[in-house]
Amino acid sequence: MSNHFFEFLISHAKVYGFIFPSSEIYGGLNATYDYGPHGVELKNNIKEFWWKSMTLLHENIVGVDSSILMHPDIWNASGHIDKFNELLIDNRDSKKRYRPEILIQEYVEKKFLNNSEKKEKILSRLSQSLKKNDLIDVKALIDELCICDPIEKTKNWTDIRHFNMMFKIKNESEKDLYLRPETAQGIFSNFQNIRKSNRMKIPFGIAQIGKSFRNEIFARKFIFRMREFEQMEMQFFILPEEEIKWYEYWRKIRFKWHLELNLEYKKYYKLSDHDSLSHYESAGSDIEFYFPFGFQEIEGIHSRRDFDLKNHEFFSKKKFRIFEYKKNYIPYVIETSLGLDRLFLALLSSSLKKEKLKNGKIRIVLKLPYYLSPIKGAIFPLVQKDGLPEIAKKIFNEIKIHHRLVYDQKESIGKLYRRQDAIGTPFCFTVDYDTIKTDTVTMRNRDTMKQKRIHIKEISRIIEQETGLKKILLKLSCFT
Ligand code: GAP
Repeated sequence: MSNHFFEFLISHAKVYGFIFPSSEIYGGLNATYDYGPHGVELKNNIKEFWWKSMTLLHENIVGVDSSILMHPDIWNASGHIDKFNELLIDNRDSKKRYRPEILIQEYVEKKFLNNSEKKEKILSRLSQSLKKNDLIDVKALIDELCICDPIEKTKNWTDIRHFNMMFKIKNESEKDLYLRPETAQGIFSNFQNIRKSNRMKIPFGIAQIGKSFRNEIFARKFIFRMREFEQMEMQFFILPEEEIKWYEYWRKIRFKWHLELNLEYKKYYKLSDHDSLSHYESAGSDIEFYFPFGFQEIEGIHSRRDFDLKNHEFFSKKKFRIFEYKKNYIPYVIETSLGLDRLFLALLSSSLKKEKLKNGKIRIVLKLPYYLSPIKGAIFPLVQKDGLPEIAKKIFNEIKIHHRLVYDQKESIGKLYRRQDAIGTPFCFTVDYDTIKTDTVTMRNRDTMKQKRIHIKEISRIIEQETGLKKILLKLSCFT
């Protein structure tokens, strides 16, 4: 995949109503995007699939929907106020901010493309300095390499400092609030409420889908790294002595889930262990996807042990330990944390295709898994006369409450097919003159473009069978 492809994808997402730049009429707002009519349907389908994979396939996983604003002490206990930092350097001339380690990495990648020894030497010094939190040496590297501001081409750099990534909200009468940087804390803080109200016994999990916010100063790559994004997280509470067993279990299950989801693109996924650990984790691994800009994290699986529950017990003075299995203990936690927007981008990247047809023309097709497609079926009249639109509309009205369908008669049939291909609709049903005589329609498949005649009564059943979640959930249930 190339830069050229990435630009094509971004443009396609806008033209076909998947993703628009936020606040575009005012020149946009860095690293924020809006999901359009097809985007929101695709997003909802992904959420439903993840939610059902968690809460239907695992009888011991329940859900929660906690508030975005939380008591500010939550973020003291979670370590986010002290430790959720990135490094930052400003250029005084361009007034732009950069992540110093990324400035160095990108410079070295370009400058020493054919000198891997030199490259490794610099990157290893950078890694050592970062480990020791030696910001003076990181700055020295920028000076020694004579790295310039990419815009102003000057070396007028400030010192490097830490920058907290949480958005703070002024709250006049009380303590300042924060926009949550992860949904997980709404799960930890409700641990006892959920355990008691649902009579849960260890091991059990709590799943949540929701918005998170991070003041990313190096936000780019479209929806890959945004300042407002959605996470699908699950915290699985376990006996401490079962940490390795459950960590391995969730690594395997989550990797398998991605492979099954994007079956044809198995080679685009890899599982790698974290080199450096976040402040809350004792072990961690990433599921990575081959995006148009290379392999990058899509989901993290972390062992958080008792880091969060223990700290909440200390800060809130409430009891987080439980008495179960004849002992008093604070459960350990294995977390699976998936970025919904990143999964969305991964699916667009792997399914957007330009195909050359037999007649030499190019068709653009979005080969999404059928069960995730924003629109499941489209119904057209072949021509706009002789009663065909009325029949097509009647069929549409009869089944529209069962499936996400569109009715369209605005263009010629060929153009209608192309439009549905471009948004990933698995099936198009066309009402023609034979429909009047035989109560049948043509059914065209998105991927093969082959057509066959089916009875009107079959439409709903076929859509349900071919585009519903049942098949994939049944397949996944064999792995849990
Ligand atoms: N609760 C743990 C946690 O938040 P993380 O690795 O920081 O862990 C989990 O984030 C996932 O959230 C990532 O794998 C990624 O998919 C998504 N994510 C993180 N930051 C993001 C951002 N700025 N924009 C979009 N998605 C992001």
